Amino acid sequence: MRLIVVDNYEEMSKKAASIMASQIILKPESILGLATGSTPLGMYKELIKMYNDGEVDFSQVRTFNLDEYYGIRRDNEQSYYYYMDNNFFKYINVKEDNINIPNGTAEDVEQECINYDKRIKESGGIDIQVLGIGVNGHIGFNEPDVNFEAQTHLVKLDKKTIESNARFFNSIEEVPVKAVSMGMKTIMNSKKIILLANGINKADAIEKTMKGKISPEVPASILQLHNDVTIIVDKAAASKL
Ligand code: PGA
Repeated sequence: MRLIVVDNYEEMSKKAASIMASQIILKPESILGLATGSTPLGMYKELIKMYNDGEVDFSQVRTFNLDEYYGIRRDNEQSYYYYMDNNFFKYINVKEDNINIPNGTAEDVEQECINYDKRIKESGGIDIQVLGIGVNGHIGFNEPDVNFEAQTHLVKLDKKTIESNARFFNSIEEVPVKAVSMGMKTIMNSKKIILLANGINKADAIEKTMKGKISPEVPASILQLHNDVTIIVDKAAASKL
């Protein structure tokens, strides 16, 4: 695991954006694994700026998002589809057909999960996966558990996740209790991974991810077994290392 400690959120975002842009410049038809949440917002802003300045072209990339809330329609403002469109996709030249986000309202959700993994595999696999991390060490919506879930699956969200995501909703009762998430194998099959974290509330999770024992109770700890992971954190998130 490579660790890059930066001064603040802005630097973290710029560093992540330049890694993503380099990937796309070197391989214009890259398969990007994308994340939602507060953490990557600055990175998306930087990438939009680079696109507007003619530094990066998304016309050939294909994207796969990590997860989506279960039972929420695409046009709902809380959906990750809506988030991606409004924070990134509508400002760049990625092709609509090249965007993949799990369908949280699929009639047969099990089949949707199988199809999602199949689509990733058929694309040739994710070249670079962006990850945030939950305060409980989750990646995607792979919550602490007694074992690792390998494939894309339906998950029951952890109490801590529901509490931390409540800030995006009018009340905690509105936070969905389930989500569709890529599994650990899907994530670990990515050729490169960058994990971003900022703020003191992530310090514990970062310490356990990098220095703790590999355990499904801290899902991100499995990244210790991947051979190309870069962790970019601000000083606060690195404070327990
Ligand atoms: P955040 O979420 O970026 O909103 O802190 C990260 C995560 O839960 O993976």
